[in-house]
Amino acid sequence: MKMRRKLIAGNWKMNLGIKESEKLASEIVKKTGSNILKKTDVLICPPFISIPAVSKILKNTGILLGAQNLSSENDGAYTGEISASMLHSAGCGYVIVGHSERRKYFHETNPVVNAKAVQSLKHGLKTIICVGETFQEREDEIFESIIIEQVRTALNDIPAGKMKDVIIAYEPVWAIGTGLNATPEQASAIHLLINNTAEEIFGKEISGELLIIYGGSVNAGNAYDILSAERIDGALIGGASLKADDFVFISDTASKLK
Ligand code: 13P
Repeated sequence: MKMRRKLIAGNWKMNLGIKESEKLASEIVKKTGSNILKKTDVLICPPFISIPAVSKILKNTGILLGAQNLSSENDGAYTGEISASMLHSAGCGYVIVGHSERRKYFHETNPVVNAKAVQSLKHGLKTIICVGETFQEREDEIFESIIIEQVRTALNDIPAGKMKDVIIAYEPVWAIGTGLNATPEQASAIHLLINNTAEEIFGKEISGELLIIYGGSVNAGNAYDILSAERIDGALIGGASLKADDFVFISDTASKLK
């Protein structure tokens, strides 16, 4: 079985104009030493409009580039949408699908998330599929079945051979932007559940290589505890990814773990 390399991903969300994106990307490049990149994959996901500018800055640095969303369609009359092949041609190797903000504000259902994942994988993009329960779902103790359903539907019709390009991000909605991170134990338990769900579908070999990362109020102060917990292969970071020092500190923390 292949070793799982840690992945630290920054989701800049709808923040920063082109100039500010260039500045932050340049700072991250300057501060991310080769010692970090030897051990850990570091990814940044700026808003669409900054992708070409950030792509130039990241060229030959080893830092990876991704988008925050894509269309489930190939091309054509879909005003305002961005396709997988456009992302690919702009230099993206990754894309995030099914973020809870897209599920909440843009009504993306599990089947829509699945269609987007199938589309991005077809075009060779590594695909970060986000899952996670709301506060109410945790209160009602239905969070495990919610996660299983999200994972199962998102992975529907994905060929086993494409699973090497899939990453699952567990992002409990109640932990996003709230400062209230899941405890390492809470996160680990769900990562193991996701692992087992993938194992039921694809078997041990493939599930054993699947990266499962955590997102929700990860910061420089809690990164070590979260990243060292069982079956946590990295982090998807919102707020703290907008500060070069914090983001690089978290990447460095990941690179020092076994
Ligand atoms: P915060 O790190 O700001 O909580 O956001 C997490 C997130 O949504 C990353 O995709």
